[in-house]
Amino acid sequence: MTDFNRSILPDAVRSNGATPNPWWANAVVYQIYPRSFQDTNGDGVGDLKGITSRLDYLADLGVDVVWLSPVYRSPQDDNGYDISDYQDIDPLFGTLEDMDELLAEAHRRGLKIVMDLVVNHTSDEHAWFQASRDKDDPHADWYWWRPARPGHEPGTPGAEPNRWGSYFGGSAWQYDPKRGEYYLHQYSRKQPDLNWENPEVRKAVYRMMNWWMDRGIDGFRMDVITQVSKTVDKNGKLPGEDGSEIEDYPVGEEGYSSPFSWCSDGPRIDEFLAEMRREVFEGREGYMNVGEAPGITPDRNEFITDPKNGELDMLFLFDHVGIDQEGSKWNTVPFEVRNLRTRLAAQQEAVKDAGWASLFFCNHDQPRVVSRWGDDSDRESRELGAKAFGMLLHMHRGTPYIYEGEELGMTNAHFTSLDQYRDLEAINAYRQRVEEARCQSPESMMAALALIGRDNARTPMQWDASRYAGFTAPDAAAEPWIGVNPNHVEINAAEEFDDPDSVYGFYKKLIAMRHNNATVATGEWNLLAADDEQVYAFTRTNGDDTILVVVNLTDKSAGLPGEVAELLGDGVAESQILLSTYDAVHGVKSIARGELARWEGVVIQL
Ligand code: GLC
Ligand code: CA
Repeated sequence: MTDFNRSILPDAVRSNGATPNPWWANAVVYQIYPRSFQDTNGDGVGDLKGITSRLDYLADLGVDVVWLSPVYRSPQDDNGYDISDYQDIDPLFGTLEDMDELLAEAHRRGLKIVMDLVVNHTSDEHAWFQASRDKDDPHADWYWWRPARPGHEPGTPGAEPNRWGSYFGGSAWQYDPKRGEYYLHQYSRKQPDLNWENPEVRKAVYRMMNWWMDRGIDGFRMDVITQVSKTVDKNGKLPGEDGSEIEDYPVGEEGYSSPFSWCSDGPRIDEFLAEMRREVFEGREGYMNVGEAPGITPDRNEFITDPKNGELDMLFLFDHVGIDQEGSKWNTVPFEVRNLRTRLAAQQEAVKDAGWASLFFCNHDQPRVVSRWGDDSDRESRELGAKAFGMLLHMHRGTPYIYEGEELGMTNAHFTSLDQYRDLEAINAYRQRVEEARCQSPESMMAALALIGRDNARTPMQWDASRYAGFTAPDAAAEPWIGVNPNHVEINAAEEFDDPDSVYGFYKKLIAMRHNNATVATGEWNLLAADDEQVYAFTRTNGDDTILVVVNLTDKSAGLPGEVAELLGDGVAESQILLSTYDAVHGVKSIARGELARWEGVVIQL
């Protein structure tokens, strides 16, 4: 195994003395998808010991916080986002002792650990759900149980309480013969939604969260947390229930209506989040919480993350990663700089005076940005595109998130056949859209999966050029749970680690800038050239210190927008170039010529 133990950053660099913001204002978070990070026992699945063995690499990269996707006990229907015991580790990943060791080893290196918290739903194998199947059990009301539609035989087609479809395909209602009723699941049928209206549910969740905080974790990434409050009428009914006009709700091409608007940012969200803050975090220090927030607008983000409202520290908004889909996730449309800028600008503007932003392009649900909006067809284009999108993201105001392998420029999987996919979303979507509803051709669906499917982010971490990429031993007993990308021979950590010009070297610089440059960390954000079709430009200002960020997000050269040229006047000196996706000399020439090369980005000290 390559030795990545080097240059651990001193604590002083991580502190944020320059600004009145909390510690995480200049922190960088790194997301690990444990199943795909590092396998140590040859079963083809990453594990906790594997993560511990790679902490020196993360310390070298310079990140401050590690977010772990779920490692709790789980039947793994949705790779751990279906939890059957919140207070245990799944044997696939290790033991509670392994978790304690990971915490201690991370803390020793100044790294914090944030765990995923999946409490919109549990697994259907969780003891709470099993108890809830009995109407006389104290847990009877812990989930969204509903009788069949009046006049219909329970369990027969059309008897579902309403026409909601699951985001993972099929009806959002599952009939349980034992209870004789249906339960709501926005996600898979093995992920029943918890009933947050019931105070006992909330208490149990907070108790569990306190247990983890007391064990020494540093906060949570809260899975679809803004979907825990549902919109019900004054009788507690969901839309279409009880024989009301079910057909009034628009039905999509797959034959279902969407629960989304009734389940996102519901009426009691602020109340629940504030209660959680009081019950779990009051009196604690040094933690951070980030909520996954599909359907939350930039304005609502401001409110929820404003410290005076005592809810969450930051949220993941999704409007900016929806720019290449229309109607359905599987109906993809081309990337346009303008659309990305409009969405990100709205997010930045909304938190100018209060609240905070998180910054991300990649996670375990999103394809790799370099394949999605960049160009991964050859080495040079790939590296330039990875740097351009990295620079753009990391120079915004907010807390940046790096998803494992993003710092190497890892690409989409480029799977060509359905049996290479593992994700239930992909497999269900294919079945439903191609075989059942027949609303998409097989070719078009395979193309959409290859572009936007979640498994693109889930292929094993590429550590080196060996068979299985160093993710697991070359002679491991089991194959990796999902195919290793063949491009690991070229794109891997061992190859990039010592090269300052690699994508990895570039990410180290981005991270260091956030630690060391108060303007990057917290300076005001102001948009320039709002209409440019190729170049995304803005300034960051902190007192009299101003930096300019200008990035060409296309594979063609681009004229410097007028507004940017004006600001730069006679051109710039090499010493003003803080960072470039090419190099400083190239940047100076491009500015002088008034033209940026393809994927050229420069950060300039004004
Ligand atoms: C979130 C997770 C995703 C999961 C879903 C259901 O969106 O990020 O991976 O499938 O919630 O838990
Ligand atoms: Ca393993």
